[in-house]
Amino acid sequence: MESDAWIGKVQSVDTGNISVRVDKEELLNSVQINQIVQIRSTKTGEKIVGLISKIMRKAISEKIDESSEPDLIVENLMRVNLVGTLIEKSGIYENIFKRTLNTVPSIDADCFLLQGEELSSFMSIISSGSKNPLKIGKYTISDESDANLDGNKFFQRHAVIVGGTGSGKSWTVANILEKAANLQSINSLVFDLHGEYKPLEDLPNTTLLKIAGPSDNPNEENIVFLPYWLLSYDEIESMLLDRSDSNAPNQSRTLFDLIVENKKETLEADDKQNVLDNFTVESPIPYDIESVLTGLEHKDREMVPGKRDEKQGPLHGKLTRFIQRLKSKKSDKRLNFIFNSGDSLQEYDWLVSLVNSLLDFGNGKGVKIIDFSEVPSDILPLITGLIGRLIFSIQQWMDDELRHPVALFCDEAHLYIPANIKGGMEEKGLASFERIAKEGRKYGLSLVVISQRPSDVNKTILSQCGNFIAMRLTNPDDQNVIKRLFPDNLGDFSEMLPILDVGEGLIVGDAALLPSRIRIDEPSIRPNSATVDFWDEWGKEKKDKGIEQAVEALRRQQK
Ligand SMILES: Nc1ncnc2c1ncn2[C@@H]1O[C@H](COP(=O)(O)OP(=O)(O)O)[C@@H](O)[C@H]1O
Ligand SMILES: [Mg+2]
Repeated sequence: MESDAWIGKVQSVDTGNISVRVDKEELLNSVQINQIVQIRSTKTGEKIVGLISKIMRKAISEKIDESSEPDLIVENLMRVNLVGTLIEKSGIYENIFKRTLNTVPSIDADCFLLQGEELSSFMSIISSGSKNPLKIGKYTISDESDANLDGNKFFQRHAVIVGGTGSGKSWTVANILEKAANLQSINSLVFDLHGEYKPLEDLPNTTLLKIAGPSDNPNEENIVFLPYWLLSYDEIESMLLDRSDSNAPNQSRTLFDLIVENKKETLEADDKQNVLDNFTVESPIPYDIESVLTGLEHKDREMVPGKRDEKQGPLHGKLTRFIQRLKSKKSDKRLNFIFNSGDSLQEYDWLVSLVNSLLDFGNGKGVKIIDFSEVPSDILPLITGLIGRLIFSIQQWMDDELRHPVALFCDEAHLYIPANIKGGMEEKGLASFERIAKEGRKYGLSLVVISQRPSDVNKTILSQCGNFIAMRLTNPDDQNVIKRLFPDNLGDFSEMLPILDVGEGLIVGDAALLPSRIRIDEPSIRPNSATVDFWDEWGKEKKDKGIEQAVEALRRQQK
């Protein structure tokens, strides 16, 4: 260590933090938050590494001798978060950085500021220390060094990408997808709520899918239908049942019985004896909603023999409102992707083709971008949850040896993984993601939660995530959520959140060897920008008249 980088001595030690007295005032000008400091360790061949989190000046009074008046002198202090150890030699390896602290610094240990070449060489140790490099950008403090994440660890423990609107989240996602798309057996789904990621179609291994809109039909390619029979009983009930109806329990029970009965009929007709023995109301088996409706209508009008005359059956008139609700959902064009009664969707084997279109086991089409822009917002949580649940179940039931890891990129996650649920469909959808967050790892299923409002995203799910890319956040509630998710001694680190530049992020978690501030690479294919340049647009001549077209699109419910 060069002695001209010496800055001062350790003054106090806390768990994970130390304070350093800056004795070399000349260096004070070049000291900045987030700079790297090395501290001499009591173990030879080791240095403790820390990040500067605070710089303070304190006035203290000191008596030179008994007789004199006390002199006021100032002391410059830095607070340093300890982040790891640099080991000069370990076996055959030289200069390895570890995220553990074998020793804590002793009082008066010498501290050195890493600058210039020393910083570059330290950062290259960090860059090359990642075993499965996912290169995502450059370090802000040393802009010639690549910032690499460990691609395994990033997905193993779920990840979070947060930042205010326009902070660069979508570009970051595009950047990660671009790197992932080059892996030959990539397997991932991107929940694209606004059709933002369409341009990424040109990446290798990438396919665009769309959840069917009102006028799509089931034999179109890359259009996803999710027929009602895929919904679990709870899910379909949350969609159809009005809990405030005094007959809700009767309606719920009747629906349950009719679904079981109709699933059973399908299995009998298809001669699926194995499944017949074990299926439940939840099993994804096609049934005919028309028959269920007929069954409901029958019970709603049923007359039974009485003592003298016929009398009303036990459910007479109790299902009328439920039947109306079901009929109106069925005829709602916006729900075409659920209630379309195309024959192909009713086939027993159709589910295999659906799952084949969502997952990719080495067919070279593993970045699936799913456009949700035509899904009505009130049932969005139910539908994202359904896809999440389906993927989870498939991974769970897959033979351990055959399983192939898959990642779900959930953009605008606050819309369907919300902190405050309003009940019903939201609750059912959320349950699927909670399950993935808690158990997905066992089955090779990873979440990447992306949101501009972390304070509106479900806390249980966020707390299961082990990696964070936090971009500029100015809202104090959002900052606090992220601060609490960061490891204890990195609390100060989050204070940089409001001052980050567009495209810059704080990266914390086990995929990053060093918690750091990173300038994220621009993706070579950019997502459609949601950023509108009002002033520029108003300043230009406007020729196209889009209003008439928009009115028609509104009527047709299709762009
Ligand atoms: N890594 C980056 N480098 C440079 N500019 C960026 C970067 N990321 C984003 N930007 C700029 O910020 C704008 C908004 O980025 P975007 O990813 O759409 O934000 P968000 O998804 O967070 O709302 C982009 O159109 C681009 O101009
Ligand atoms: Mg975005």
